[in-house]
Amino acid sequence: MKHVAIVLAAGKGSRMHSDIPKQFMRLAGRPVICYALQSFEESFIDEIILVTGEGQNAYCKKEIVEKYGFSKVRQIVSGGKERYDSVYQGLCAAGDCDYVYIHDGARPFLDADILNRARQCVEEYEACAAGMRVKDTIRVADEHGVIRHTPERKYVWQMQTPQVFSYSLVKSAYDRLFQQGDFCGITDDVMVVERMLSCPVRLFEGSYRNIKITTPEDILVAQLFLESREKYSQDG
Ligand code: CTP
Ligand code: MG
Repeated sequence: MKHVAIVLAAGKGSRMHSDIPKQFMRLAGRPVICYALQSFEESFIDEIILVTGEGQNAYCKKEIVEKYGFSKVRQIVSGGKERYDSVYQGLCAAGDCDYVYIHDGARPFLDADILNRARQCVEEYEACAAGMRVKDTIRVADEHGVIRHTPERKYVWQMQTPQVFSYSLVKSAYDRLFQQGDFCGITDDVMVVERMLSCPVRLFEGSYRNIKITTPEDILVAQLFLESREKYSQDG
């Protein structure tokens, strides 16, 4: 069985308001993207495809892949304007494999437990994604801020990555999406598979630490998580 990771790092990070894209910002001295790559490198994953922005290929090769010795990164490909464009580039580059693990490069706290749960789930169900039960009550409001609907909390999950699929399944879903050309409202891979193939998707537990670095305060939270991880490993 061949397991391939597609690590997304082609976004502009507009909500971060920083000079450099957030996936290349430093976290405890290392670019954010290094953390997810490291987790895949140390796992059962056979091969990593790094999807990066137009013109960032040489930087990624020299300053990330070679510098930190990520030997499983076999290809660095250019992404596109939207996340789904970048995923599609990664899927086309992946070719012949059994399972793909699509992961946001802006989520540094991927770990071995999450990856093992992902593997178990995808081998059984073919389409699955990391998520966590929400801690707050979620309300759906109209455009005026008037509450319209309150879903029962125990059924509400916040989505994370990795989102993991059998390769042939997710590739055919994305092929269809690009043939049809209706991208309205697509934010993640689960949505593509649901919409194009009407395929049920299973959730498995990610972790409450598996945050996406999105806005400036997320960097502070990530630093605290890293400090506590170091302390824990020293104590242990
Ligand atoms: N991503 C990508 N290609 C895009 C857009 C996003 O590869 N065209 C990647 C990002 O680099 C990130 C992940 O998808 O690792 C999740 O996206 P998001 O958090 O939305 O990142 P950005 O799009 O960069 O940020 P923003 O939406 O604030 O501009
Ligand atoms: Mg975005």
